[in-house]
Amino acid sequence: MTTDPAKSIPAFYVGQSILLTGSTGFLGKVFVEKVLRSCPDVREIFLVMRPKKGLSVAQRLEKILHLPLYEKLRNEQPDSFKKLIPISGDAKEKDLGLSASDKQMLIERVTIVVHGAASVRFNNSLKFAILTNTRATRDMCILAQKMKNLVAFVYVSTAFAPANEPFIDEKVYPPIYDWQKMIDIAESLDEHSLNIFTAKCLGSTPNTYIFTKHLSEGIIRDYSSSLPCAIIRPSSIMPTIKEPMPGWIDNVYGPIGLFLGGGKGILRVACCAKSVSEDLVPADIVVKNILVISWKLALTNSTTDSKFFVLNCVNQFPMAYGSTVKLLFSVLHEIPFERPLWVPNTILTDNLLIFYVLTILLHILPAIMIDSILYVSGRRPMLFTLMRRLYVANRAVSYFALSDRKFGYLNRLNLLNSIPPNDLEDFSYDYTSSDIRQFCRISAIGCKKFLLNEDISRLDIAHANRKRMYLFVTILKTTIFIGILWTIYKYIYSL
Ligand SMILES: NC(=O)c1ccc[n+]([C@@H]2O[C@H](COP(=O)([O-])OP(=O)(O)OC[C@H]3O[C@@H](n4cnc5c(N)ncnc54)[C@H](OP(=O)(O)O)[C@@H]3O)[C@@H](O)[C@H]2O)c1
Repeated sequence: MTTDPAKSIPAFYVGQSILLTGSTGFLGKVFVEKVLRSCPDVREIFLVMRPKKGLSVAQRLEKILHLPLYEKLRNEQPDSFKKLIPISGDAKEKDLGLSASDKQMLIERVTIVVHGAASVRFNNSLKFAILTNTRATRDMCILAQKMKNLVAFVYVSTAFAPANEPFIDEKVYPPIYDWQKMIDIAESLDEHSLNIFTAKCLGSTPNTYIFTKHLSEGIIRDYSSSLPCAIIRPSSIMPTIKEPMPGWIDNVYGPIGLFLGGGKGILRVACCAKSVSEDLVPADIVVKNILVISWKLALTNSTTDSKFFVLNCVNQFPMAYGSTVKLLFSVLHEIPFERPLWVPNTILTDNLLIFYVLTILLHILPAIMIDSILYVSGRRPMLFTLMRRLYVANRAVSYFALSDRKFGYLNRLNLLNSIPPNDLEDFSYDYTSSDIRQFCRISAIGCKKFLLNEDISRLDIAHANRKRMYLFVTILKTTIFIGILWTIYKYIYSL
């Protein structure tokens, strides 16, 4: 293997100290695995995480490392886990809640920062979202400025940050408000008062998540004069396509949540336009993109070239929602989920009136009926709450599913072309030649295994469940139909 960092990405990572925020999240976990496996001589990875659910950061890390995602690494390079150093921090707090001694250690040792921590809920209060997503980004930039050997700072944004642009190019669009002022306001106003101003602040931005991610991009742009920065903007992150295993997934946000709901027969109607393009990108592709851009930033000669990149980490051949949903349901026919609540079939509509009427008929009324049966039989009602959550998710996603956006990706392509030939196997993030149906199969299997804890070898049971449900629904619909005809007949006959 060559030791020239310009000719080899793993050679560049030899001895690097990475600081990662968001390591306990879906993307962060995939990132950690990939670095340890494909850049085995990295010096260390500092993981900023918060204690949660009674677990210290060390205990959280220990638990995470037992996930199936790390199985390959556990078997092949078990010592690599010693390079992970958990650090207690909370993005919601000033300076990310880091202790003075930890900050000093990071200043001395970190060479690459990947800032991915964010609260990704769409309906956070504005104060919370600004402090967690925006102020934390600024404070991370301030800390990075003090780092003695920093070569790259990558901020993980979202492709939808400039939400109102029909064509989103690889550049920072001016945020509606000054990020510094917004941080000052969030720090000085109480949550309730700021809630009153939320609609005014957001304007046409769909939610506080997008608003605060967009503000953060402005911060990165402003700090890029003194930091080697890149903004990477994934669209909707999907299960891994290949590494370390196909189909790994552990969160249910966005399209995956809707897919699960649809596959279980719970989501019967979704508010989206069939012809609008849906942009999905596998998690391992995003991670490779982050590793390559960090390498590029470090190699870029600051005197001659720009040290600021914006990359849209998007699919070059997005599919329309209508086609995607059709494809997913045909895959579900092959690989069904166990114990569906109804026959999987989601109606897509971009007509809000139809959406509301169908939501009442197909979601709310059946949920009330089933919850009543559960209540009477002494079990815990739950469907109505689930439906409410699905409705919120559905409306949140619908902002992006009702109007088309196109993305520029020239920077991303140029970067792809700069990957050394020997590294293409491990670091190329080009997946344009992948078979989309095969990726849908991978995603369905991943959802079954990792989200629903279903055993993929019991597909026969899932098929039997599906057939029983088809039969049940057919009998029920036929009975209702005959009942209606009978009632009409009796009514006419009685006149
Ligand atoms: N998923 C997508 O489709 C998508 C698309 C575009 C962009 N992105 C971006 O990608 C990044 C990672 O997203 P993800 O999908 O991995 O989301 P995720 O699974 O929800 O992970 C979020 C991460 O941020 C951490 N975090 C949240 N609040 C924190 C706080 N107050 N202090 C410290 N850490 C905190 C979480 O830690 P805890 O475990 O302690 O909660 C977790 O590690 C985010 O910046 C997101 O905006 C995601």
